[in-house]
Amino acid sequence: MYKKIGILTGGGDAPGLNAVIRAVVRTAVRQYGTSVVGIEDSFEGLLDGTQINELKPADVIGLLPKGGTILGTRNSGNFCRYGETGDVIYPDEPIQQALWNMQRLGIEALVVLGGEGTLGIAEQFHRRGFPVIGVPKTIDNDLAATELTFGFMTAIDIATEALDRLHTTAASHNRVMILEVMGRNTGWIALHAGLTGSADVILIPEIPFVMDRVVEAVKARDISGSRFTNIVVAEGARELGHDEIYLESGTETKVKRLGGIGEHLRRQIEAATGKESRTVVLGHLQRGGSPNSFDRMLATNFGAHAVHALARGETGRMVALQCASIITVPLEEAIVNIKRVTPDGPLVRTARDIGISFAAPDEPEYVV
Ligand code: F6P
Repeated sequence: MYKKIGILTGGGDAPGLNAVIRAVVRTAVRQYGTSVVGIEDSFEGLLDGTQINELKPADVIGLLPKGGTILGTRNSGNFCRYGETGDVIYPDEPIQQALWNMQRLGIEALVVLGGEGTLGIAEQFHRRGFPVIGVPKTIDNDLAATELTFGFMTAIDIATEALDRLHTTAASHNRVMILEVMGRNTGWIALHAGLTGSADVILIPEIPFVMDRVVEAVKARDISGSRFTNIVVAEGARELGHDEIYLESGTETKVKRLGGIGEHLRRQIEAATGKESRTVVLGHLQRGGSPNSFDRMLATNFGAHAVHALARGETGRMVALQCASIITVPLEEAIVNIKRVTPDGPLVRTARDIGISFAAPDEPEYVV
């Protein structure tokens, strides 16, 4: 086993990052006598003067329930940029500088916590012969190589609570309430939260929707006497024949940010039905704060297994949950395959069984 390993967090934060850091430190020190250094601000902390600190078991006390990441994180930086056609470019110079700094500091391997962007950079280090193990993180749960990423279950809890709360106000006012949730180009959060928060309509990117079908559901509920409707819409959902809706570009990154579909829906529904409608964008509330018990468990297991994988001499791999076991899969495989909701899969079928509409063109008429 290595004498000294580094750990860093990259991309958007997710509940459970600190729980992984804690498990990595405790496992490395207790089981292997390996020291762990925390690298700040993702890979950026390996450049120039470097920003690193040794993390001892005493430094990770109280971290399990803590949201965010004590190491800081970045969505963008020197290690990757986008070409004219949207292709990802990994410049060699910062990687060489980071490798040189790690050699100088005695860091022999890295544990990298991130989604597909961060893990793509991690894979570049592996390609240059530096030992790396990835840990899958994203509230979106869109990495195909693992059945679950930590942060996802907490995000569903938050979205479910939001839907429960919107339910009572929707019913009191006979309104249409629209909850826009995250998920990028996948509908996992919307689908799960829609089921657990008893939405009437769920709109996800994998099933392009027809606005008339949404309106039909609202009207059918009115006629039946249930004069309110709860809709959950994924930020990446789109109307059939139209593109996704984006916010104006942020300052930190040139990557386009999804958002605005909830407000678009509200305007169309109000115009077509005359019913008062409101949109709530749940946004970063889904990412902040304490991980739930499931995510603490998953994050802790991922962290311990990442250290064991390094001790076994594995590199260029990511820990993953498959069939209730933690295994490792090649990083290469993990970063190229995005997991999407299957439009006729079991969860969508269950939702339809209990009367939830996806406003798809081929769906039978909405019945309350
Ligand atoms: O990937 C996680 C995620 O929260 C997405 O669901 C969302 O589209 C994106 O990150 C927002 O990222 P940020 O606000 O950090 O740019």
